[in-house]
This record gives sequence, structure tokens and C-alpha cells, in this order.
Amino acid sequence: MVPLKILFVSPEVEPFVKVGGLADMVGSLPKALAALGHDVRVVFPAYGSLRLDSSWRARSEPLGVDVGPEARWARTWESVLPGSKVPVYALEHEEFFARPEVYAGPWGNFADNDLRFAFLCRGALNLCLQLGWIPDVAHAHDWTTGLLPVLLNTTLRNTPLGRTASVFTIHNLEHQGYSHRRVIDFAHLPPSEFRPDSTESVGAVNMLKAGLYHATKLSTVSPTYAEEIKTPAGGFGLDHVLRFRAGDLVGILNGIDTAAWNPAMDKHLPRPYDQRSLEVGKAASKAALQQRLGLDVDPHIAVFGVVSRFAHQKGLDLLAEALPHILDRMHVQFALLGAGDPGLEQSFRWAAEAYPGRVGVHVGYDNALSHLIQGGSDFFVMPSRAEPCGLTQMYAMRYGTPPIVRSTGGLIDTVAQFSEGEHSGTGFRFTDATAPALYNTVGWACATYYDRPDELLNLRLRGMAQDFSWHVSARQYAELYGWAVDARRGPAAPPAA
Ligand code: ADP
Ligand code: GLC
Repeated sequence: MVPLKILFVSPEVEPFVKVGGLADMVGSLPKALAALGHDVRVVFPAYGSLRLDSSWRARSEPLGVDVGPEARWARTWESVLPGSKVPVYALEHEEFFARPEVYAGPWGNFADNDLRFAFLCRGALNLCLQLGWIPDVAHAHDWTTGLLPVLLNTTLRNTPLGRTASVFTIHNLEHQGYSHRRVIDFAHLPPSEFRPDSTESVGAVNMLKAGLYHATKLSTVSPTYAEEIKTPAGGFGLDHVLRFRAGDLVGILNGIDTAAWNPAMDKHLPRPYDQRSLEVGKAASKAALQQRLGLDVDPHIAVFGVVSRFAHQKGLDLLAEALPHILDRMHVQFALLGAGDPGLEQSFRWAAEAYPGRVGVHVGYDNALSHLIQGGSDFFVMPSRAEPCGLTQMYAMRYGTPPIVRSTGGLIDTVAQFSEGEHSGTGFRFTDATAPALYNTVGWACATYYDRPDELLNLRLRGMAQDFSWHVSARQYAELYGWAVDARRGPAAPPAA
């Protein structure tokens, strides 16, 4: 293996800033690549919410960022990904990143997101030039970094970065980053890039589409999602671009951080557990969870957990619709954690009021509680309409909590359908995105819980025995980087005769 220099540029990195699973991926894949011998570095914005503790040090040299009409500067903070030597750089810039949030404030998406993230892309590349560290590959993630491959192909083509290949990963095709044309000038891109086979979409700039056209290679976060997005039904208007680039697109399943998500070492659980101590460990977590969310403390009742962004994509409106029917007919409790859509937040609050002791809701973001829900629930509910990969169902299986998922995207690739007759499978899957389909599947899980506890125990143990580490996928990324480098540099010269 040839060790590569790999630059990650992302708006989110766990444990520094996280909105969703993108952060988990960018916080864990670089460590797995470093363990394979690659030189990986990560750049993200120093949002106002970033805790610059003693692990961070400021670089003395200011970083010039070529955007807009006059010079802009960033201050660069340096640290490492915890538990590794992977360098991380956070770019501080008062106007764009001093606010604490990543994408949106109380009044919705920030109106200058195009400029903010163009700044991130150019800042990350200028930092490489300043460090004299020229990556073989720049790995960009989602719409915020879509202009990075364009910069490498155009404005920076005749700099030392002209040989740098790019890999662009689609974590979610739904969010495309539409912007005014102004971002082309702001990012110092040639005006000629404002055309449909580059950055333009229906008269605006589509930053995700720009990345799809320009990156040397493309990936997405599961093999099934890689197929879905090439169809009109799953392509969010960009399926034609993905079919056009199909030869350069691969689906690589996300791994998980098996140290952060390990029930045997989890400090958020009252009594960490492994396969042998599953029953006692889970019982302790269940009691703690019930107390924490104001549920009746009852070791015998089936508890269903949810940890999710409350967004249309996640299909939680199906759960909101099915919930009263489930609660009226089945002996169950629900433990819900999430935030987002105000209508959904309200319906779950109402459910908690209407069914005291049986529905517990925490609206907000709470990492410790998310671990306790994984440990203390009997089942994990994830009725996603679309799911590029999904990480929480993998966390659930690792915690002996069989997931109930809709058959879509990465959920198909990670959850095998439970078959009682064959004693196989790791969770419960359903196909229709409807409340009755979810209701029936919850009923199936509930019947398994009460009537066939031995089957259920085996189902839990099968989930815990799965390997969700980066072991395989990090090697697939390394291979993809190799292809990208070859494609960027052209075929190697034949050996001299
Ligand atoms: P997505 O990225 O689409 O939100 P994933 O399943 O890939 O879905 O990742 C979601 C990540 O965010 C998981 O690590 C999950 O535990 C975490 N998460 C989601 N909502 C919350 C919340 N309200 N509090 C704490 N963690 C959350
Ligand atoms: C996105 C997707 C999710 C995926 C995550 C990490 O947020 O919605 O399915 O797991 O990115 O790749």
C-alpha cells in the first residue's frame, strides 16, 4: 500500500461539532485510515460553540483566504482527533463562524451559508499551501463542500494543488445548497462555471451538483443508496447527473466508532454489559431510562426507543400517527429523543401528556441520553422514508436492541430481516411508508417480546455479534483514493524498455 496524504473538509466533526451522522463519519473514518498508515488531516470551521480547551493551540501565522473582493483572514486552531494523532484544524472567522450554530439559527437557514462554506473550502485549501502539505486527495462531504472540487479543477489548477484528486461523498442528496450566483465571484471561480454541467441549476448555483460534476470520484454511504439515487424516485432531481457519473460512483457502507459505541465500556450506562451480561445490564439501563424520562419503572414492559433528528426524511410522522393506536392496544412504553420539526415535537409532547408514564420525550440534543436509550430500550424505531446509511440502527444492534426499520437505503444493507423459523436476522423490516405498516411491525416485535423471549434473546445476540467497525470500509475508501489519484494524474508512464 502506498501511504497517501488525505485532506478531509467537513462542516461537522465529532466530538467537536455535530448535527447528525456526518459528524460521526468524519470523526471516525480518518482514525481508521491513519491506522492503515495514511497521513490524514481534517479541517472544519471554529464555530462559536467550539470549546477551545487546552488541547487546542493557535497557529501564529494568519491564514489568508482568497474570497470576495478584498483580503479575508482566518485564525487557525490546531488539535488532534481524540484518541489519535490525526491533526484537526479549526478555522476561526468572526463574520462567518462566530455564531454557535452550523447551518441554521432560530429563523431558519443562514442567508450567507453559500459564502460561509465557500470560505471553508478555500480556507482549507489555502491552509494546505501554507503548511506546505499538498494532499494527494481532498475528501469533501455534502453540499457545503461542493465547490472544493471545482476550485481544484479551475482556480487552483495551476498551483501545487493542481495534482490533488478529489473524492466527494454524498451523505444526503436531499440537501443541495442552492445559492445565488454571487458565490461564483465570491469564491473566485471562473464565471464560465455557471452552466448546467457544472454549478448551475434552474438559474441558481447548486453546490452539491457542482461537487457531483467536478469531483474525481464520488461515493455515497451505502451500496443500496448508491443505486437509489440513480433513479428518479430517489434522485432529488439529480439522478441524471448520478447516472452520467455512475462509472465513478461507489457505495461504501459507513463504519461506526466502536470505542465510543461499546456497551461494555459505556460510561453513560449504569451497568455496562456485553453478550454474557446482557440481561442484567439491559435491566439496569432500562430502569435508569424509565426514571430519566418519567416512565413507570417496570422491568417487564417492552420499551421502544427513538433517537433522531425530527425531519420528514426520518418518517417520524408515521410514528406520531401510529402512536395512539399502538398505545391503546399494546402493553408498551416509548422513550423518545430528538428535535427539529416543531409539529412533530408538539405531537410527541402531547403523546407524553396523554399517556403519562408510558411515553417519555426529551426534545433537544443530549448525547448521554442517546446512549442510555440505546442501552435501555428493547427495540429501536427508525421508520425512515430515505436513509443514506443510518448509524443509530447499528448502534442499536451493538447494544442488543433490535431495530425496527423501513426497508430503504443503508437500512437494507445493515439490518437483516428477522426470521423466526430460520433463527436468523438482526431486526424487523417493513416496506410501506405508512402508519399501519409501522403499527404491524411494532406489533410483531411486541409479540416476540412477550411470547418468544428465547427467540428475542438470540435476535439480540446476533445483532451484538455483527462487525460494524471501519475494518472493511476504510480499506474501500483507501482503494477509492488510489483510483482517484490515478485518474487525476493519468496512467503511469510504461517502464523503460
Ligand atoms: P442522520 O445523520 O441522518 O441524522 P444517522 O443515524 O446517520 O442519521 O446519525 C445520527 C447521529 O446523531 C447519531 O450519532 C445519533 O445518535 C445522533 N443524534 C440524533 N439526534 C440526537 C439527539 N437529539 N441527541 C443526541 N444525539 C442525537
Ligand atoms: C446523513 C444521512 C445518514 C448517514 C449520515 C452519515 O446525515 O442522513 O443516513 O448515516 O449522513 O453518513
